[in-house]
Amino acid sequence: MIDQLTEKDIDVFASDVEKGLSAKPKYLSSKYFYDSTGDDLFREIMKLPEYYLTKCEYEILTTNRQKILGIIKPKDQEFDLIEFGAGDGFKTKVLLKYFLAKEVDFKYMPIDISENALEILRSGLIKTLPDLKYKPLQGEYFSALESLNKIDSCNKVILFLGSNIGNFSWTEANGFLSRLSDLLNNGDKVIIGFDLKKDPEVIRKAYDDSSGVTRAFNLNLLTRINNELDGNFDLTNFKHYATYNPQSGEARSFLVSKKKQDVRIGKLDRSFHFDLWESIYMEVSQKYDVETINELAIGNGFRVLDNLFDCKHYFVNSVWEKE
Ligand code: TRP
Repeated sequence: MIDQLTEKDIDVFASDVEKGLSAKPKYLSSKYFYDSTGDDLFREIMKLPEYYLTKCEYEILTTNRQKILGIIKPKDQEFDLIEFGAGDGFKTKVLLKYFLAKEVDFKYMPIDISENALEILRSGLIKTLPDLKYKPLQGEYFSALESLNKIDSCNKVILFLGSNIGNFSWTEANGFLSRLSDLLNNGDKVIIGFDLKKDPEVIRKAYDDSSGVTRAFNLNLLTRINNELDGNFDLTNFKHYATYNPQSGEARSFLVSKKKQDVRIGKLDRSFHFDLWESIYMEVSQKYDVETINELAIGNGFRVLDNLFDCKHYFVNSVWEKE
């Protein structure tokens, strides 16, 4: 992602920061993690030994690519493979490559808010997959899908990988899936990556790695506030802390104030007070079980066609059909 923010983006960022830091307890929205430093740090996270999610999902897609094609491919018809939040396409490439080798008739349509992210993705894919029909859609997921519906009546397969659904609360996940369901036709398919409940320590470490990359990823949001909103956060005064609750399945990250302090944000022309050990809630990564995934599907008008697991049963790619 390029860090060229419009005046309006900055104003929205500023007002979200003001809302979050005035709230009790304090929070910041994780959607601001991803500037270009955030993107780089996230790529580092995916390579960490503790961060099992990407490796598990890669394994699932690699071992099940034939099966996936069998489940999702409409009979002798072209389909649109639409991806929400493709990133660098590292995992999706496994499917794209296989589908092309099998001469499947499909268009790949990644949706992203950032024109630049789509361009980077294109240049990466074009080199290795010159025959790919690449039709990027720039915009928010649902408005892009709405516009697509007006001009294209192809069968759809939606990819939502990487346990990104885990960054929604239960209510948000249901809201998201019900909107998605409304925009699809009967027979359209969805493939969603869910991270599963497992040894709590394995989960916690994925969000608190020993080399401190996840820590830097969280702290980078304070750096963004410093740079873009003229803040004066001293990063050394905050500690990254990750928890996992094995009953609720919520992995949460926090930044905790190591001292009593006031932080000034120039753009907002005000300061925010932090008590000793007061925290900012940064993000949830919800862990699921198969029963809850079924509930989520059925409750939003989908039928579960298959659940594909890695060999350790750490992660699942759940394949649904709109009905
Ligand atoms: N959605 C992934 C997850 O929940 C990726 C991710 C989002 C992430 N925010 C993160 C990973 C913060 C580590 C830290 O795991």
